[in-house]
Amino acid sequence: MVEIKTPKEIEKIRKASNIVAEVLCGIKKKIKPGVSTAQLNEFAEDQIARRGGICAFLGYRGYPAALCVSINEEVVHGIPDKKRFIREGDVVSVDLGCVFENYYGDAALTVGAGKITAEHKKLIEAAEQALDRAISAVKKGARLGDVSHAIEKCAAAYGMSVIREFTGHGIGRKLHEEPSIPNFGSPGTGIVLESGMTLAIEPMLSLGRGDVSIKKDGWTAVTADGSCSAHFEHTLCVTDTGCEVLTAGI
Ligand code: MF3
Ligand code: CO
Repeated sequence: MVEIKTPKEIEKIRKASNIVAEVLCGIKKKIKPGVSTAQLNEFAEDQIARRGGICAFLGYRGYPAALCVSINEEVVHGIPDKKRFIREGDVVSVDLGCVFENYYGDAALTVGAGKITAEHKKLIEAAEQALDRAISAVKKGARLGDVSHAIEKCAAAYGMSVIREFTGHGIGRKLHEEPSIPNFGSPGTGIVLESGMTLAIEPMLSLGRGDVSIKKDGWTAVTADGSCSAHFEHTLCVTDTGCEVLTAGI
């Protein structure tokens, strides 16, 4: 069942999401060659705590950090490491979740470190645009398949693949709630969206094929063909006329 949140609940999700947006904005500025992924994680932990939030990912199913940092062929769930340094030309995805008064917010973005290739710039642009198109498809009365299809269509227009193994999700009292939101689908199918549903939409695109494997650390998902990938995510609330992006302002 997909929960409809009350305005009071949405206010808490908005607060958690606002913390995520603010902290991710700071992290984005720190993504430069020479910075370790553990430094980014430390910053995230510190900034979330300062704002009275709790790190949503830390300890989630045993995940050992507050932040996921996934570089190049890493798609999602890269574990921060003090020996892993960002290098010139890297495509860096960061994903962060926060709990505030028992409600969750979740967002992700991808940026290039230093100078990146034109192809990688296009990949980042495509993934961000896929999220924008998906958000545009969200409104009361639309079907979930419309949202999923918007992502798939955008990726196809760029000649890129969506990662089919991971999905977006409902969010609120838990990090992952129903519905699961695939990054591909058919218009006019799936559940009907209603005002007060809170969703985390997260397209992941790659330059090559869309299949992934998990590294030996048990977490890091990488593209099976080693191709570069990018990830964007927003938490939003469905409204009568469209949606409110709760993690806006990154
Ligand atoms: N935003 C991601 C998701 O919704 C990452 C969280 S998974 C964690 O799945 F394990 F890292 F917490
Ligand atoms: Co998520």
